[in-house]
Amino acid sequence: MSWDETADRLVGAGADGEDQAVEAALRPKDLDEFIGQERVREQLSLVLRAARHRGATADHVLLSGAPGLGKTTLSMIIAAEMGAPIRITSGPAIQHAGDLAAILSSLTEGEVLFLDEIHRMSRPAEEMLYMAMEDFRVDVIVGKGPGATAIPLELPPFTLVGATTRAGLLPPPLRDRFGFTGHMEFYAPHELERVVHRSARLLDVEIEADGAAEIAGRSRGTPRIANRLLRRVRDYAQVKADGVVTREIARQALEVYEVDARGLDRLDRSVLDALLRLFGGGPVGLSTLAVAVGEERETVEEVAEPFLVREGLLARTPRGRVATPAAWEHLGMTPPADRGAGQGPGAAQQGLFGA
Ligand SMILES: Nc1ncnc2c1ncn2[C@@H]1O[C@H](COP(=O)(O)OP(=O)(O)OP(=O)(O)O)[C@@H](O)[C@H]1O
Ligand SMILES: [Mg+2]
Repeated sequence: MSWDETADRLVGAGADGEDQAVEAALRPKDLDEFIGQERVREQLSLVLRAARHRGATADHVLLSGAPGLGKTTLSMIIAAEMGAPIRITSGPAIQHAGDLAAILSSLTEGEVLFLDEIHRMSRPAEEMLYMAMEDFRVDVIVGKGPGATAIPLELPPFTLVGATTRAGLLPPPLRDRFGFTGHMEFYAPHELERVVHRSARLLDVEIEADGAAEIAGRSRGTPRIANRLLRRVRDYAQVKADGVVTREIARQALEVYEVDARGLDRLDRSVLDALLRLFGGGPVGLSTLAVAVGEERETVEEVAEPFLVREGLLARTPRGRVATPAAWEHLGMTPPADRGAGQGPGAAQQGLFGA
């Protein structure tokens, strides 16, 4: 079974095909409509207003944060607020410096260039970008080997908006060339409730306050997931009830879809369940845990664990994975009384996996 973060999981933060189709309709169009991220919103608003005031092109902006938190949305808002057109491309789409030169040289004055997944750009393109960002100039290399010549090309002033889920992977010279960096945080439940209400309005779904709260609480701090859960709950409400999303309908629907009260799905729960039931809460090695749940090591480590760690349900220690008291509580189990007394979890571990 594959747990591709982008395709299979209802609580995956990456965009699937359906998300891409509906997200355009659900995207806030200006800063006032953009919910949450108070600090980034306020700082960005100042940057943009000052640029407008000067009649200048806005500084380059870097947006970093986990998938589904609103980086692409914000980039479009930046263009809208500046009354500028936006050109959209991504790091992986730029294989050669020439690809970037072609894009840069076709920009119009004040245009916003949105470069998604900027950490995945090739090195030569990156170096061309340094000069373009700083001096609005590129050197186009014509020819190969000793006969190659660099033809300097002036660019109109533009605003680069870079987005990355991995700010740490950006080389410092690139990071330093952005005038403003916005770090997107996970959303608080009351902010996600507003996201759900707003999307329900746009999708023409009738929803009660309790229903929105129920969906928000299971959305892992991520608007994209909130919007996706809302659509699944809406389907359920239409088929099984009168279409109105109440708390009870939201609960029933998300039980069917196996998204629990904290937003854990089947994979997350099976990892926790194995950790508690078979290994007495750990510590247990990652490989052993993966075998116990019948998944690849990488799946457990990269797909399930980050959220479990973030939620304070699981800890990665040098001796292995350990469940926290919150994990026992969440699965409604009691930790064994002899925990830490050196007895270990005993039979299950020894019998199943050897010493
Ligand atoms: N602050 C917000 N208010 C309302 N809706 C939001 C907000 N942020 C994101 N959304 C919704 O979540 C969806 C996903 O946001 P977006 O595509 O901007 O995320 P992203 O950070 O670019 O994700 P990725 O890293 O996968 O590219 C959007 O369609 C939008 O409807
Ligand atoms: Mg995006």
